[in-house]
Amino acid sequence: MNDRTKCVDNTLSFLLKKTIDDDTQIQVQKSMAYSLMAGGKRLRPILCIAAAEAVGAAEIKTEKKRDNPIWMAACALESIHTYSLIHDDLPAMDDDQFRRGKPTCHVAFNEATAILAGDALLTLAFEWLSSIKVENKKQALVLLDVISFISRAAGYTGMIEGQMRDLASENVKLALRELEQMHRLKTGALIEASVYAGARLGGGTKKQVLQLRKFSQHIGLAFQITDDILNIEGNPDEMGKATGTDHERNKNTYPLILGLNESKALSREVVNNALKMLEDFDSEADPLRAIALYIVERKK
Ligand code: IPE
Ligand code: IPE
Ligand code: MG
Ligand code: MG
Repeated sequence: MNDRTKCVDNTLSFLLKKTIDDDTQIQVQKSMAYSLMAGGKRLRPILCIAAAEAVGAAEIKTEKKRDNPIWMAACALESIHTYSLIHDDLPAMDDDQFRRGKPTCHVAFNEATAILAGDALLTLAFEWLSSIKVENKKQALVLLDVISFISRAAGYTGMIEGQMRDLASENVKLALRELEQMHRLKTGALIEASVYAGARLGGGTKKQVLQLRKFSQHIGLAFQITDDILNIEGNPDEMGKATGTDHERNKNTYPLILGLNESKALSREVVNNALKMLEDFDSEADPLRAIALYIVERKK
């Protein structure tokens, strides 16, 4: 994970430098770089790459990363994710002051700049995706399909709808089924898109892609259950963001509905279900297996 995080950081930094002038005085470019390069686990890009490896895509050498469709898609997914965090932290949404160990974008700059930084990172992701080079019609069609999948996962039928439900249900108690659906949308959808992108661009068969999608749906849910747990039990210094905020804002969470112990047991069960989806895969899927276990054991 650490190695991969560094590789993603380096590739993002390279791509951003190509996009953003180092000496720029332009506020929105500074704010984009501030949030994107603030750190973060880089889970979505790492998942994208691991999914590609699981279907047999060859390991990509350092110097080739920037020309590689899988790494470009991985970076685009991180750009979308970072935009979602900037907007999630805004006063009109979760109103948070810390993210990735630093003041949130709207605190470091101002609210209008943070809104625009988010907009810019979202559109930048599609600039990167659409600049991926393809060699033939078949590859072009796969790329279009991946872009379409990511658009829907990030959009109003995916993450945006999940975020809307999260905000609309503050102070309203959801049934467990509704909470699960909300988590699948607000967090699961982009995680599924990350695995889907890696599996498709890596040349996975229909059956492999289907199995990996099922795997990703499980880990996406487990990831957000763990986020809920860490909001109660986590160490804010280690996580780089405040804890106790879900309770303060009367959010619907797994610990609220099921209690802490049952939530932990459930997230482990969900990850076990994820691992079962990898039974047809050999050791090439070991990175995916390791990520699945990490998701419930993580401390940040
Ligand atoms: C936090 O995501 C927001 C959720 C969707 C739960 P991460 O926990 O992946 O945050 P970073 O990218 O490591 O900062
Ligand atoms: C964030 O969910 C989900 C998205 C950004 C899409 P949360 O609001 O629960 O995540 P944190 O705890 O602020 O990271
Ligand atoms: Mg939120
Ligand atoms: Mg939040």
